[in-house]
Amino acid sequence: MPSRETHGDLPPSIRVTPPGPSSRTWLIRHAHVAAPMGPMLPPGPPSSIVYASGRGSNVTDVDGNRYVDLAGGFGALLIGHLHRNVQRVIALQGERLLQALGDLYPADAKIALLERLTRLFPEANALGILAQSGSDAVSAALKTAVLATGKPGVLAFGAAYHGLGYGPLAACGLRESYRAPFAAQLSQHVSFAPYPTNAQSAAESLDGCRRILSGGDVGAVLIEPVLGRGGVVPPPAGYLAELARLAREAGALFVADEIWTGLGRAGSWLSTVAEGVIPDLVCLGKGLGGGLPISAVIGRNQVMQSWRREAEVVHTATFAGAPLAASAAIATLEVLGKEKLPQRAATLGDRYGAELRTALSGYAAVREVRSRGLMVGVDLGERPGAASRLMKGLLQAGYVTSTGGGKREVLVLTPPLNIDEAVLFGSIPVIAEQLSKSS
Ligand SMILES: Cc1ncc(COP(=O)(O)O)c(C=O)c1O
Repeated sequence: MPSRETHGDLPPSIRVTPPGPSSRTWLIRHAHVAAPMGPMLPPGPPSSIVYASGRGSNVTDVDGNRYVDLAGGFGALLIGHLHRNVQRVIALQGERLLQALGDLYPADAKIALLERLTRLFPEANALGILAQSGSDAVSAALKTAVLATGKPGVLAFGAAYHGLGYGPLAACGLRESYRAPFAAQLSQHVSFAPYPTNAQSAAESLDGCRRILSGGDVGAVLIEPVLGRGGVVPPPAGYLAELARLAREAGALFVADEIWTGLGRAGSWLSTVAEGVIPDLVCLGKGLGGGLPISAVIGRNQVMQSWRREAEVVHTATFAGAPLAASAAIATLEVLGKEKLPQRAATLGDRYGAELRTALSGYAAVREVRSRGLMVGVDLGERPGAASRLMKGLLQAGYVTSTGGGKREVLVLTPPLNIDEAVLFGSIPVIAEQLSKSS
């Protein structure tokens, strides 16, 4: 058994019904200074809390309530809050260097990270580009595809999410409402096929892809190997392989957005590779930095070499590969490997998914429980607001969760991969109880 550093994850301890008075005060202050990104805070008492601290799979709010964090920073805390190795490395790097000079005079930590990351790619001599957010990594991948193929078109998928910067936003099928206000400024070169949920829809989706690819101008087929924000939807077996084949045939790159699924979240280092597919480019982000913002595109040498054809440097960012986040990422990759967390996510996720499925099988409100590794979705069907109500009930019972799906109809669980087993399984009766109350 690999030794796994435990953080002493604890069950919830709710002293004051969330949101408590301190959270409410902070949220009022927040509302005075943060631009309102839509109707997030309805009139009346707010239903969110304000975090004060976190350790392992627990977070504590400003009222002193302790929660079990089953959302994990939207899947970004693969090794939990403040992992000691990450903390140590941040402290050491903080004594050495915080900022280098991009690609001109890069930091040693950036180079060491790229050496590690490119080894994750299933082919030798892979190359990488570092970025700050998932959205940045997808932008870099889309640019790479244009340079490598000379074709501007992107084939993307309904219900998929790739970030909200202008490049990725144009390819976000998840919600029309994300794109609608900015449609006039978005790339007109994106076509959507439906994301498949079963064998029949896989055949229909592939037909749609063939039609789009037959136009001849698609340079990138951009896909999440399992829909994350779209509600934890794995495609049927064999779908990704056939899609990759169609992409190659059409002279397009197969770009795997593994920002959610990758680095163990879905039970393997890379979901595409576990499915027997060798992508041309892979986007990574979220958990890569152990809680610090850093992302990457890694890909086939020949594809990445297409940047060399430009007369000068045409893509960069001030903080891309900044040493603090790069060294945190190295520590994170080390922990994931040493503690065999991708494998743990696969076995623990299977058992948790099965047990949750059994526990919720008698509930008419539940359409389906889906899981792949430690990404789990409880699909509550079309009833408006059902997943948000369940999420709120769970918060009051001491569990932080999130929602996904086009209509936010899915309760989404993405706990740290090193979460204490008893603490994780302790959530099952609570989810069942809250489901009874909220439906
Ligand atoms: C699959 C996928 N791609 C890209 C992104 C965008 O990442 P970020 O929010 O860091 O820009 C996300 C975020 O949820 C994601 O799930």
